[in-house]
Amino acid sequence: MDWMNDNVNALGLLGAAAIIILTVGVSWKYIQQMKTDKSTGELTKDNWDGIGEYKNPLPIGWALSFIGTIIWGLWYFLAGYPLNSYSQIGEYNEEVQSYNVKFESKFKNPDKATLMGMGEGVFLVQCAPCHGVTGDGMNGKAANLVKWGNEEAIVASIVHGVKGSNYPLGEMPAGLLDEKSAKAVAAFMAQEISALKKTKNPALVEEGRALWATCSACHGEDGKGMEGQAANLSEYGSAKFVANVLNMGKKGDIGNMPKFNDGRLTNVQKIAVGTYVSSLAK
Ligand code: HEC
Ligand code: HEC
Repeated sequence: MDWMNDNVNALGLLGAAAIIILTVGVSWKYIQQMKTDKSTGELTKDNWDGIGEYKNPLPIGWALSFIGTIIWGLWYFLAGYPLNSYSQIGEYNEEVQSYNVKFESKFKNPDKATLMGMGEGVFLVQCAPCHGVTGDGMNGKAANLVKWGNEEAIVASIVHGVKGSNYPLGEMPAGLLDEKSAKAVAAFMAQEISALKKTKNPALVEEGRALWATCSACHGEDGKGMEGQAANLSEYGSAKFVANVLNMGKKGDIGNMPKFNDGRLTNVQKIAVGTYVSSLAK
């Protein structure tokens, strides 16, 4: 370790050395003096069983170092180490930042298996406490992700409405269509608009296309959500949709899902956990 590469260390060492030298020197002087001195001088009027006290002025060196200590203390508190310059927290933040940059570049083009592995790890730590280890939402404590992000979930969204992410258009009201029409729109949306790109009810696609106007009012003709006014349905079923939910947060009926846009997760980790979550719904 290089003791002198840090001003504060250097100053501290210098101070310690000065104190040792002064202490040894002064002690030496008085010990010598005690051997030879015949004391003289004016006594104070206090006297304890014959032991008196001379009238000594305050030693100038002592007074100066006392005042110096106070000044140094103020400097240290207001301008010096560690409040305004170096701090361990700052160093920690810098280290995390540079680690994250390395992390992002290492996982710049992750393959699916890497994303799934990373995503499962992130899920178990960050999401499982609310959504459950299997993602089933633990009896309604949070969204049941095993039944989310697929065609049935689109039907449920249309019938029950969607809310909680604070889009400019607000909430999607419940009961926009009856269950039968909702199924048709879901077939159309799943195959033609969403990232699912396929439907379990191909026979209903044309009927759904005719009803799409109900949705395009808010989501746009192409379903992309009119530049953030409502959810971007072209990403529905993909990791990106999940990553977006993580950035926006979600107010649920029972509790709130926090926004994950505070640096807790890197972009790669959001896409990874999104890939994992998207794989839960069949
Ligand atoms: C009044 C405007 C409005 C209309 C009409 C509308 N939506 Fe939405 N929709 C929204 C908003 C806003 C959200 C995002 C709500 C949130 O997450 O807070 C949303 C979210 C969604 C979601 C995402 C669900 C989820 O789990 O995050 C789906 C799927 C969806 N809409 C499908 C549709 C379909 C299909 C139609 C047509 C039947 C439709 N929407 C009509 C406003 C609308
Ligand atoms: C503090 C609890 C909590 C945590 C932690 C949490 N969630 Fe949620 N999540 C919720 C709640 C509550 C809802 C909304 C439930 C509802 O109203 O249906 C929700 C909803 C969702 C939805 C559905 C969004 C929609 O548009 O319908 C997804 C996807 C989701 N969470 C993914 C995740 C992922 C991935 C993580 C981990 C990175 C996570 N959640 C962490 C509580 C949480």
